[in-house]
Amino acid sequence: MNQYESREHAAKRERARRHRARRRAKRILTACLLMLVALAILLFTFHACVQTIGVHRLVHTSPPGETYVCMEKTANNCRVFYPQVGVSAIDADIETMVNSFSDEGAHMGGEYAGVDYTFRRWGENLLSLVFTVSAYMRNNTLCAQKVHTALYRLSTGSRLPPEQVFDGEFYAYASERARETWTAEVPQTLRDTFMRATEPSAENFSAFALDDNGCTVYLSDEDIHGAVGVQTVIMPMSEIRSMLLLEPDGTQKTTTAATTVTTAISRQTHPAVEGDGKPYPPVRPAYSDADPSLPMVCLTYDDGPGPYTDALLDVLEKYGARATFFVCGDKVRYYPDALKRMVSLGCQIGNHTMSHSNLVNLSDEDVLSAVEATNDIVENVCGVRPYLVRPPYGSYNAHVGELLKNYPFILWDVDTLDWKTRDTQSTIDAALDGAGDCMILLMHDIQSSTVSAAETIVSTLTQQGYQLVTIEEMAYYTGRTLFGGQRNL
Ligand code: NI
Repeated sequence: MNQYESREHAAKRERARRHRARRRAKRILTACLLMLVALAILLFTFHACVQTIGVHRLVHTSPPGETYVCMEKTANNCRVFYPQVGVSAIDADIETMVNSFSDEGAHMGGEYAGVDYTFRRWGENLLSLVFTVSAYMRNNTLCAQKVHTALYRLSTGSRLPPEQVFDGEFYAYASERARETWTAEVPQTLRDTFMRATEPSAENFSAFALDDNGCTVYLSDEDIHGAVGVQTVIMPMSEIRSMLLLEPDGTQKTTTAATTVTTAISRQTHPAVEGDGKPYPPVRPAYSDADPSLPMVCLTYDDGPGPYTDALLDVLEKYGARATFFVCGDKVRYYPDALKRMVSLGCQIGNHTMSHSNLVNLSDEDVLSAVEATNDIVENVCGVRPYLVRPPYGSYNAHVGELLKNYPFILWDVDTLDWKTRDTQSTIDAALDGAGDCMILLMHDIQSSTVSAAETIVSTLTQQGYQLVTIEEMAYYTGRTLFGGQRNL
């Protein structure tokens, strides 16, 4: 190798060294870039994740007059919102629950979870907290949801277990309602699971909330429906009041007169049936000031008005009570003032035909005119057109129902037999023995013995805690749509 060749060789080596150095620098740069990109992706995912949990917050509505503090805690990829209500025993209990929720959220099968809450209030003293645990997939799809609830008595700070809230009957009722609400929508493959999950047991109906309107039960989606989302069953207060072991003030029920008589449930005797006739959805009558959480009775008086009706109205007025009068058109013309007074006292006027005919024996034309001519007379006299019909003798058939499909029929739960005994004491006994929450009592204001019984009946029922309401009020408070041409309530 000559000198030239050796210089050439050294230059070649130098070029190779530089080339290697450049390649090394490039590799380091690429690695750095890759690390940066990875970091960015990681940061972005984390950010998106945490943000999305927040997106699913419910609206927090504090009970009126109170502002509870909303707290927040993130653990195990689960973000929990929870309240502090300012009662130390309750707040400590909530903290304990919150810790168990975040673990549960992490194990529900999603990528991350969120827990949120709402309030319900029953009266001044009872607070229901409803926690919803929602698990989400990476793409933010909800994959599972579960509800946990707690009922607190604010005055003592104690949490009330279901056995202090519901009697045994409640679960049978809740089960029936849940099945009635969902059976048609449950796919065949989930039928067995659904039936098991809605068996009447305290365990199946452990998630519940109470408020002034009633009870809401929350059923886990995977158990009953197979779709995403918790399903609710809502039971109005008027239907479940007798199965509750609590008073609205949070105390345990005692066996006072008012509560012992509140056991009969007429609505189960005549379940709501959807009909082909004209529907009358529940509407709150302008005159109504009833409290849906207290028991109610409907006094109904037929065949009048008559010479004693005014004395009966005196009694109703004295106690602030209301009744429903099923009047006969051919009597109305003799007592127009009684009808006007009924309206002014918030009483309801129903139709008992023109001359008390048995509708089954009339021609089609006569059936219609017996009802419509009566409505015309009543409307002329007092400005209100009746829409409820009580067929005389409770007598009708499918054909009569078809003819009168614009008019809901209202019968009764208790016949006091006042028309037969014509005895004041017997009428009092029959009315008071038969009365129960949401029951309809039948009497006749054309009997003087019946009107003499009114003072004792009205004062005793009022004292026992019953509100005396009209048929349309009861339909409203029990959430019932009335259908024309058939028996209702
Ligand atoms: Ni009658």
